[in-house]
Amino acid sequence: MRLRRSLADQLTESRDLRSPLWRRSVETVPREAFLPDDVFRDVDGQWEPVSRAQMGDEAWLRLVYEDRTIVTQRNDFGEPTSSSTLPGLVVRMLEYLDLREGDKVLEIGTGTGYSTALMCRRLGPELVTSIEIDPDVAERAAAAVRGLGHEPELITGDGLQGHPGGAPYDRIIATCAVRHIPRAWLRQSRTGATILATLSGWQHGFGLVKMTVDGPGSAHGTFLPGHVSFMMARPHQAPPSDVRLPGRAGTPRAASLDPNDIWEDWTATWVAQLATPDTHHTLVLADDGPAEHLLTDHVSQSWAWISANGEGWVVRQNGPQRLWDAIEEAIHLWDGAGRPHQSAFGITITPGAQRVWLGTPDGPSWNLPTCAD
Ligand SMILES: C[S@@+](CC[C@H](N)C(=O)[O-])C[C@H]1O[C@@H](n2cnc3c(N)ncnc32)[C@H](O)[C@@H]1O
Repeated sequence: MRLRRSLADQLTESRDLRSPLWRRSVETVPREAFLPDDVFRDVDGQWEPVSRAQMGDEAWLRLVYEDRTIVTQRNDFGEPTSSSTLPGLVVRMLEYLDLREGDKVLEIGTGTGYSTALMCRRLGPELVTSIEIDPDVAERAAAAVRGLGHEPELITGDGLQGHPGGAPYDRIIATCAVRHIPRAWLRQSRTGATILATLSGWQHGFGLVKMTVDGPGSAHGTFLPGHVSFMMARPHQAPPSDVRLPGRAGTPRAASLDPNDIWEDWTATWVAQLATPDTHHTLVLADDGPAEHLLTDHVSQSWAWISANGEGWVVRQNGPQRLWDAIEEAIHLWDGAGRPHQSAFGITITPGAQRVWLGTPDGPSWNLPTCAD
């Protein structure tokens, strides 16, 4: 209890935790019940394995109650595929939901089940549905959530399809990122419902967006402050990249922007991704020269190389889409608006399109990629 209370104090101080009801959840739900004994913690940007047996119980519990993400599963490339999200972010997102008594909530990405249990404690488990795509992760979460006596609806499956059996929902919250808002979420929400999700893409730009559902297939919303990132929903992950690098054919022209200034900047990366939503960005390192930036779009079969030539940057583009031209245009627009953070952007969703705009709904805008779901 002492550690849970001290976490709640810390989250109150950081302004992530604001209301007494969520505070009670944080003080009651034991995060350690949701973690396996072998996990990974971030040390200087690397996921370092740690185990409860090696650390000893006291140090382990201190780690568990730090406001940090703990990775619980990695893939063969060492990339995180499931985690217990940092509690400050979990709670901040729950606060953003503005829950009212009796609201029915759908969560996408059960993960360890910690956030699911916080919601069960706050709302009552009968109002909570949570979906996890990974069967092993789902099984472990179900055991942990049920071990605390909660019986929410736990589904193993693709959360991008929602769960029609529990619809309509008053709130949908996603703890994995999506490239666009799945139609099923809009269909399964009540008019006036809130959807809270992180939009992302294959250049790793992220924006947390809070939307109000206006009717079947329609919603509007704005992006929230801060720097939120999540692992991508598995069906929205980038297809395996083609290891063969495209040639450098094409007439070179001087680039009007330094590409390092784009992909080293949080919001510029987001703007570039909006402008080229099916494009991967790769920094290609060379033994004997400066790194080059490569853009590839497998959908339109287009690519662009941006290379330093000693005086500045030169771009060579090929394929039906001029990827770098689209990025330059978007970044110049954003520059002209004073380079605002994501919170200056909003979204309008209609049955036909999902459009992210800058400033106002009639300001500059970009369509999100349309996918089968
Ligand atoms: C950051 S973790 C969730 C953290 C969790 N809310 C917690 O507090 O522990 C993201 C989870 O989303 C899951 N996921 C990815 N794609 C999904 C999908 N399409 N449907 C449901 N879950 C998905 C991953 O397997 C992973 O467990």
